[in-house]
Amino acid sequence: MNDAQNAANERPAFTLDGGRIPFTPGQTIMDAALAAGVYIPHLCHKPGSAPHGSCRVCVVRANGLELSACTTPAQPDLVVESEADDIRALRLAVVQMLFIEGNHICPACEVSGACALQAVAYHCGMLTPRFPQRFPRRAVDASHPDFVLDHNRCILCELCVRASRDDDGKRVFAISGRGIASRLIVDSPTGLLGDSSFSKDDAAARVCPVGAILPRRQVFRIPIGKRYYDRSPIGHVGDVAPRLDAEDVEL
Ligand code: SF4
Ligand code: FES
Repeated sequence: MNDAQNAANERPAFTLDGGRIPFTPGQTIMDAALAAGVYIPHLCHKPGSAPHGSCRVCVVRANGLELSACTTPAQPDLVVESEADDIRALRLAVVQMLFIEGNHICPACEVSGACALQAVAYHCGMLTPRFPQRFPRRAVDASHPDFVLDHNRCILCELCVRASRDDDGKRVFAISGRGIASRLIVDSPTGLLGDSSFSKDDAAARVCPVGAILPRRQVFRIPIGKRYYDRSPIGHVGDVAPRLDAEDVEL
């Protein structure tokens, strides 16, 4: 047994789908699982970003309770199920709800193949809608020279809110309202992105897991069918689809 294995054996551990997951006190179930190379589906979680717990895609059962893995602290006595049939069914229902809450029309979307929502839906085996489509009428903000903000595709994950606040020190984005009335708002005199301090160099410009913060003039640089999740379905630890405007995307 090498030093790394010895160190892992000395750490506390919990059970996840029958396997042992070592953790460092302070880690969440999600942190520890990803660090151990075990994928738990997620959308609003991003390593290094403050836990948020809004999308509920990471639902697991921990000691009999359905909880979000990204906000639940790891503990030594936990028995966690992520891949039980009923948890997978619950996760699929959550994803199906996310699809009808906005307007996610994958065949007509510029980020098809590079969208984490679409990729997680495939991962969960979503083949059909399940709930009545709401078709909300939401604005498309095309005021910025480098980005379009399409509120129809926003899943309210707050990754842009956290990145703008914590990484860019700007607070360009926030969520307003509650429940079904929740919406992303922009801090500018007009409420439009083009009148805000948002810049293409911001961390917040690269975190949107869907096509809501859309880089102009770049999105078809990589053809549909050859994009990140077209080539490798989501499910690998550390999966972060490169933005379609990234310089270093490999085809
Ligand atoms: Fe999340 Fe994108 Fe909506 Fe921001 S714009 S809250 S990153 S889905
Ligand atoms: Fe855990 Fe979104 S990834 S609630």
